This record gives sequence, structure tokens and C-alpha cells, in this order.
Amino acid sequence: MDSRSDSGAGPSGPTGPQTACAGPWWRARFILSGGGALAAVCLLVAAPLNAQGLPDPLTTTPGDPVRGEAIVTDPQHGLCTLCHEGPFPQVPFAGNLGPDLTGVGARRAVPELRQQIVDSRIGNPDTIMPPYYTTDGRERVGARWQGATMLRAQEVEDVVAYLASLTGDMP
Ligand code: HEC
Repeated sequence: MDSRSDSGAGPSGPTGPQTACAGPWWRARFILSGGGALAAVCLLVAAPLNAQGLPDPLTTTPGDPVRGEAIVTDPQHGLCTLCHEGPFPQVPFAGNLGPDLTGVGARRAVPELRQQIVDSRIGNPDTIMPPYYTTDGRERVGARWQGATMLRAQEVEDVVAYLASLTGDMP
């Protein structure tokens, strides 16, 4: 399965077709790393940014919250429940290294949710949450994810749509 095949650019933001690699964070990383390898990564995985510097939708197909829930609550797929509890009683043993996701759709705007999933290190460079839609600078990557993003573009959108739907208390 080629996880890059659906990484096509989504609609471009109000300031035109910028990519994540054009942002200040990426530029700094690019200079620090001396170029080559990261440039390849940037070409491979480039999340379009909006005027606030947050990633725009990665796909033209809107996220599906039902598929997103399946990804989030499957401990083998999203791995989210290793660290997050939430309004999903079907997951018996969720971890609590990260915040409870209950009501996160009310606390956070959609572009912020997307950024957290795409690359949580932008908000918190020391985060333990894995970056799900970049291959840059990851350490200790399981064989399954070598050279591939942990989620595909459409899967990120599905997860974001599900998180955005979590606006209430526990069901
Ligand atoms: C290894 C632990 C870990 C995993 C796995 C993980 N997260 Fe996180 N997550 C965290 C931590 C810790 C934070 C707190 C903020 C930070 O460090 O970035 C966080 C923050 C968040 C936030 C912001 C919450 C808020 O209240 O603002 C969201 C949303 C989120 N994670 C969703 C997910 C989703 C969805 C997945 C799976 C696709 C996932 N996380 C996987 C540890 C994890």
C-alpha cells in the first residue's frame, strides 16, 4: 500500500498554495538540517497552510467522522487510546498520558485539531504524541511506518472530523 498516493494538495489557502515546508518552522528545520533529506520529505508530504499558518484540509473529500472514530478507537491503527481517554466506552483500557478527548471539538478549532494530528511538535516540541502526517525527524519508528506517514491524508481528515464532533460530555 502506498501511503503517499493520497497526499495530494487540498484547496489552497487565502494566501495561495503555500506548503508546510514554506512555514517558519520548516524553514528553520531546513536550514538546521542542511537541506537535502528534508527537501525530499517536504516534496513528499506537504500540508497546505492557511493564513494563520495552520494546515488546510489535506484532501478535497471531507473527513468522515464515522471512519475517524474507527481509526481513533482501534488501538492497532491510530494508537490514540494508548494515551487518550475519551467518549468511547467501547475502548476498555485507554491510557491517560494525554488529555481526555471528551469535548475536544468544543475546546479546539478544526485547523488546530488538524495541526495536532499532522505534527503535534509544532505546538509542543517536546510532546510525546507522534506526528501522524510527516516523516520528518521521527525517531524510533516501527518497521510498519518506515518511510511512510502514520496516517494517510484522508485518514487524518477522518480523525479530525471525528474529533470536531466531540463537542459534548460522555454519551
Ligand atoms: C504517546 C501518547 C499519545 C498518542 C499515541 C496520541 N496522543 Fe494526542 N496527545 C498526547 C499528549 C501528551 C497531548 C498533550 C499536548 C501535547 O503534548 O501535544 C496530546 C494532545 C492531543 C490533542 C489536543 C487535546 C486538547 O485537549 O487540546 C488531541 C486532539 C489529540 N492529542 C488527539 C490524538 C489523536 C486523535 C491520536 C491518535 C491519532 C493521538 N492524539 C495520539 C499524547 C498522545
